[in-house]
Amino acid sequence: MDFRSAIKSYVLETFGERSGALVHTKRVYRTALSLSSEFDSEVLFAACYLHDINVEKPHPKKAVTQAEKFLMSIDYPPDKREEVLHAIAEHGYYGNPDTKEGFMLSDADQLDAMGLSGFGQFSEFSSDPEEMERVLKSIEKECLSVLHLAKSKELAKERIEHRKKIIEMMREEQRIPRDPSGSSANQ
Ligand SMILES: [Fe+2]
Ligand SMILES: [Fe+2]
Repeated sequence: MDFRSAIKSYVLETFGERSGALVHTKRVYRTALSLSSEFDSEVLFAACYLHDINVEKPHPKKAVTQAEKFLMSIDYPPDKREEVLHAIAEHGYYGNPDTKEGFMLSDADQLDAMGLSGFGQFSEFSSDPEEMERVLKSIEKECLSVLHLAKSKELAKERIEHRKKIIEMMREEQRIPRDPSGSSANQ
């Protein structure tokens, strides 16, 4: 079995076919691919697929330990293994990657939380437009500042605009009509 197939089967086996974690992982990989054209495709693939292989605290440290054990078990080349583990170790809000693949993984992971696909995935999800607006403001303030690549910043702006539209649509849907009898419809 080649390395990609081995990694894919391991991730599938760990997460389960219909899990949100698997869907998030695949989305992160697809987004990462769109962020740059120069990178080591084997390293990027392994880093994206394994970045959340263990989300227990302290994450991503636990993910690194598990990914390292697995990569050693399939005789993954040691030089590439180090690159993969670096990218995994440095993903997340407090990460500090310094490789191309590390930037791509870290940015794609942040972008996933900003996008509509990640909208319903986190506890931030709410049907209250004011709450959504508050979350959006914190995304604009915090997540944008940790992106590394120019393409990521471009995509982030698009995703923020999408969210703004959704919030407006939500407000429109929830607008309280005036009751001709004079009593409030909001009861
Ligand atoms: Fe993570
Ligand atoms: Fe992630």
